[in-house]
Amino acid sequence: MSENPYISYDARILEVKDMTPREKLFTLRFVDPEVGENFSFKPGQFVIVDVRGFGEFPISLCSSPTRKGYIQLCIRKVGRMTKYVHKMQEGKIVGIRGPYGNGFPMEKMEGSNFLLVAGGLGMAPLRSVLWYAIDTGKYDHIWLFYGTKAYEDLLFRDEIVHLLKHGEAMNCSVKLAYEIESPSCIYLERGFSDRVCKGVVTDLFKGEEFDVENTYALICGPPVMYKFVIRELSNRRLSPGRIYMTLERRMRCGIGKCGHCIVGTSTSIKYVCKAGPVFTYWDALSTRGLI
Ligand SMILES: Cc1cc2nc3c(=O)[nH]c(=O)nc-3n(C[C@H](O)[C@H](O)[C@H](O)COP(=O)(O)OP(=O)(O)OC[C@H]3O[C@@H](n4cnc5c(N)ncnc54)[C@H](O)[C@@H]3O)c2cc1C
Ligand code: FES
Repeated sequence: MSENPYISYDARILEVKDMTPREKLFTLRFVDPEVGENFSFKPGQFVIVDVRGFGEFPISLCSSPTRKGYIQLCIRKVGRMTKYVHKMQEGKIVGIRGPYGNGFPMEKMEGSNFLLVAGGLGMAPLRSVLWYAIDTGKYDHIWLFYGTKAYEDLLFRDEIVHLLKHGEAMNCSVKLAYEIESPSCIYLERGFSDRVCKGVVTDLFKGEEFDVENTYALICGPPVMYKFVIRELSNRRLSPGRIYMTLERRMRCGIGKCGHCIVGTSTSIKYVCKAGPVFTYWDALSTRGLI
């Protein structure tokens, strides 16, 4: 965006939406229209939110680049910075720098099927892929397998439930898993017993086969989830090069300068902020400390 990578640009908060008690969806627009027009990104990339005089933190872009004029960030309240931002209201200004990271190779995957596997907050970057794929129509079928602790933790709930009910018209099939029962999920389960279940995200694989020659799996969720999802995919013989994962590390600069996100060994290191945050399972197998 700028020749000086540390410069952040003013963006106004247009809307703040409560999604769960912990997560809010922020819709922002760059104050300078020229900056907004020049800001382009790929699903899977992230930005650094700069709260002037207070600090910075990385957040995935959860809107699709096909939706112009604004960006969206789904922010979980966990500590100092995110608690501060959660108190900010419509009209306030934050700095945004980026986009950073490699993002998903959307062009390479054109014409293929997608299996998106999300756990909890992992839905944020995958939502960008989901809407990009639906909006562009350049992909075959899209499956979304999404697991949360409870129905109440489901992010982007209205959209996801809409896709559960009507997604087939957009070549999209949604399956949901939740661990804690509540009246809302029992209601959903009654209507969609083949697609909503009590359990963890890997339970959604039961009875499913994929055209492994023509499918990519994109995974994002808590670290513990990766091993089990990869096992399901490997059992179905999906090659490691067709499995993409977006991985988080503690980051500061986002541009390969500070060294906070380094993984690997002294002879082969990777900066997660630059080489990632999206990696194939091949990368993970060959890089110590990646997963
Ligand atoms: C590439 C990338 C994309 C991200 N995307 C999102 C997103 O879309 N939505 C979102 O809510 N968060 C996202 N995060 C995590 C977010 O950056 C952290 O939650 C945030 O920096 C915490 O700042 P804090 O000052 O509120 O918390 P701190 O006071 O710094 O820490 C509070 C707690 O959060 C944990 N924490 C801090 N940073 C991270 C991190 N990077 N990963 C995991 N745990 C962390 C700490 O261990 C501690 O337990 C992303 C991180 C990265 C690296
Ligand atoms: S975050 Fe600074 S090097 Fe990656």
